[in-house]
Amino acid sequence: MHNLIVVTGGAGFIGSNFILQRMRDESASIVNFDKLTYAGNPHNLESIADNPRYHFVQGDIIDRELVRKTLARHQPRAIVHFAAESHVDRSIRGPEDFIHTNVNGTFALLEEVRAYWSSLGEPDRARFRFLHVSTDEVYGSLGPNDPPFSETTAYAPNSPYAASKAASDHLVRAYHHTYGLPTLTTNCSNNYGPFQFPEKLMPLLILNAQQGKPLPVYGDGKNVRDWLYVEDHCEAIAAVLAQGKPGETYNIGGSNEKPNIEIVYRICDLLDEISPAKGVSRRELITFVKDRPGHDRRYAIDARKIERELQWKPKETFDTGLRKTVRWYLENEAWVRDVTSGSYREWIATHYSG
Ligand code: NAD
Ligand code: TYD
Repeated sequence: MHNLIVVTGGAGFIGSNFILQRMRDESASIVNFDKLTYAGNPHNLESIADNPRYHFVQGDIIDRELVRKTLARHQPRAIVHFAAESHVDRSIRGPEDFIHTNVNGTFALLEEVRAYWSSLGEPDRARFRFLHVSTDEVYGSLGPNDPPFSETTAYAPNSPYAASKAASDHLVRAYHHTYGLPTLTTNCSNNYGPFQFPEKLMPLLILNAQQGKPLPVYGDGKNVRDWLYVEDHCEAIAAVLAQGKPGETYNIGGSNEKPNIEIVYRICDLLDEISPAKGVSRRELITFVKDRPGHDRRYAIDARKIERELQWKPKETFDTGLRKTVRWYLENEAWVRDVTSGSYREWIATHYSG
């Protein structure tokens, strides 16, 4: 069996970073299976579009026939499943797409992968892996003095997004337990870095601050997230794929807990340093807005299992990662222009009006 991986959702933020990183290995071939929703952007992968080791299939993971044909044609040794609806605020306004892709889509994909895997002969069958990329949001919200989420923390998802991801995690677990499918699940904290769609906090702040627009902070700005640079997440996924034990889950995080308001201050100050705006401080743009309904107060990840068992550790500190990220958005104006046209504007106008 050759070294080919099918990646679902590879035109999104983390998936495209993962593909670009993995393609640096000359022996790797990747098939990217992506529906290209508003969050999927083929421009992210322009640099490898003509590489014969890269192949793109536009499709919905719920389309079982297309998934079946793709698996039969490319004979992957692994699936890395990123495809999802991923924005909490959108899940509050319209949960249906989240059930479609995250729950029913993951189920359809699992069924087709199970059939494909069952048809493999040994040793390919033993070597095969299905890696499911999930989130720390499935664990719910922490109090200020609670220990961080570990792999044994009980699930308590609070948003429709988190509930749909929790459901998919349970399906993956059941497919290992019942059918023996060699699954791996990763639950990661908030990512930041290049190619993140600017509806999420960090790129939204960078672009608004750069354009002199208000910086919307939900509630009191004291909600805490645990931030990880996207390339560190991708390396963790690669480590789990290579050495993780089937049936296991691995929590991934950067031990970088920060209240939102601190993120806002850091971005303002960095932009004032790198790209000063004629005597005014970006901090003047900070605007407290109505809180997100059911807004989880604190997330934090205990990543000791992956550090201990797979020798993974993040390479970037929060300072180096944030600097790289801010610079990337400043240097990639064409990318920004492209993604902030059309439907993006509608979302911003509807979500932040009043
Ligand atoms: P994203 O929204 O940027 O990208 C999702 C991608 O999936 C897009 O390319 C989209 O076109 C594709 N997609 C959506 N529905 C599809 C369908 N039905 N069939 C095929 N493709 C479909 O998401 P992201 O931030 O890159 O997150 C990727 C994964 O990582 C998700 O599963 C998410 O839950 C998980 N995750 C994200 C974070 C984070 O901070 N962004 C943290 C932890 C885990
Ligand atoms: P987000 O990037 O949507 O990730 P998640 O909700 O999955 O953690 O939001 C990160 C944090 O930033 C979260 O606490 C909500 C907050 N936030 C704001 O304060 N203002 C905003 O405009 C957005 C999009 C998020």
